[in-house]
Amino acid sequence: MAGTDRGAWSSRLGFILAAAGSAVGLGNIWGFPTQVGQGGGAAFVLVYLMCVALICAPIMVAEVAIGRRAQRDPVTAFRVIRPGTAWWLTGLLGVLAGVGILSFYAVIAGWTVAYIWFTATGAVTGGQQAFGEFFTAFVSNVPVIIGLTLLVLGTTASIIVAGVHGGIERVTKLLMPVLIGLLLLLAIRAVTLPGAENGLAYYMRPDMSRIWDIGVLNAALGQAFFSLSLGMGAMITYGSYLSRRETIGTAVIWVVVLDTGIALLAGFIIFPAGFSIPGFDPATGGPGLIFTVLPRLFATLPGGHLFGAAFFILLAMAALTSTISLLEVPVAHLIDAHGWSRPRAVLVVTGATAVLAIPSALSNGAVPFFTSLPGLGMGFLDLMALIWNNFALPIGGLFVALFVGWAWRIDGALEELQAEGASFPMPAVWGGLLRYVCPIAIGLIIVFTFRAAFGG
Ligand code: PHE
Repeated sequence: MAGTDRGAWSSRLGFILAAAGSAVGLGNIWGFPTQVGQGGGAAFVLVYLMCVALICAPIMVAEVAIGRRAQRDPVTAFRVIRPGTAWWLTGLLGVLAGVGILSFYAVIAGWTVAYIWFTATGAVTGGQQAFGEFFTAFVSNVPVIIGLTLLVLGTTASIIVAGVHGGIERVTKLLMPVLIGLLLLLAIRAVTLPGAENGLAYYMRPDMSRIWDIGVLNAALGQAFFSLSLGMGAMITYGSYLSRRETIGTAVIWVVVLDTGIALLAGFIIFPAGFSIPGFDPATGGPGLIFTVLPRLFATLPGGHLFGAAFFILLAMAALTSTISLLEVPVAHLIDAHGWSRPRAVLVVTGATAVLAIPSALSNGAVPFFTSLPGLGMGFLDLMALIWNNFALPIGGLFVALFVGWAWRIDGALEELQAEGASFPMPAVWGGLLRYVCPIAIGLIIVFTFRAAFGG
């Protein structure tokens, strides 16, 4: 069924590397600590881990199974498995989310590229305040930010015209161990700083009263979907390049453990390092949290310029393996469903994303409209993150769970998961989570979030 020109991963490791490359990115190292800081610390971490284990891991299995069965882009995949139904709209939501997320993701990836230079050259010196002021001035320099955003989009596009295979597998194979090694070193340094114990307590001792805070629940759910690249068809697309000889269950466990481990590790750097600074408040850092805490940490380390530059190079590369997967979803759709050539699809989607990225790039500039949207009190970039991460991705996941649980049905999906004698752990538990727990939990969180936002 699969066209021979669609390409495929070279092995299961190839899939794990590509999927991990998609999952591990800004979501882990920038997004997770930022959200923990805004969600009040350890309570957020606890809710996040529950979302990952009970909701997201089962949905990742479902997405990969859909992709591998259909061997098509996310829109066509639903049509192949259940022809003549409206389920394909789930895939379309994913295609739109790919463009939406990439449009603000590229802006932040651009910041990391600039910080390679800033840390290497020791551009900032002085106390915490100096680092904060430097960041604020940097992100308000709109022409530079737009240039960096276009650089990120252009690099992503130029890699993707050649197809997603080969390249990302090799980059990720090298990237993951080095990234984990460097994060471990930094974590060891951070937890031994004076005052680090306050950061550890903040990060690990949950304030139980916040566990049922609907804002925390929604933020944790959205963050889990975002970090694991779920709810928008990225894993359907990557699963469609996976051969039937490979075992999906173990591959997914690997990706989930790697992604979650790296996010947790980032927290063990940011919070101990942050709380070692007198007067530090994790909630006020906003999207600049890691860009103010980390460069200051590097500045205090022997050889810190080198460490810092290496860190931001790795982060930029991790972001790139994620932007590749974001762009690949709409591109694969235009190729598979509309017969476009790959270069044409890449050109058109990248162009559209660049246009949508401009207001996000303006979000910290001098034009008040974009920095604080009338009636919303938030910048354009924050609005994008809210729409796509907190709502579009969980809603996409909800429909994936309903589709596999009730339309394709667990038995049909298990046939795919256990193809060619592959083992799949606890099929009944997986089925129960997907049919009942995922839809009910996501549905309740979305409904209560709306009620909290619009009164009632
Ligand atoms: N998971 C990526 C990250 O953590 C972002 C992403 C989201 C990539 C959705 C693809 C799809 O950085």
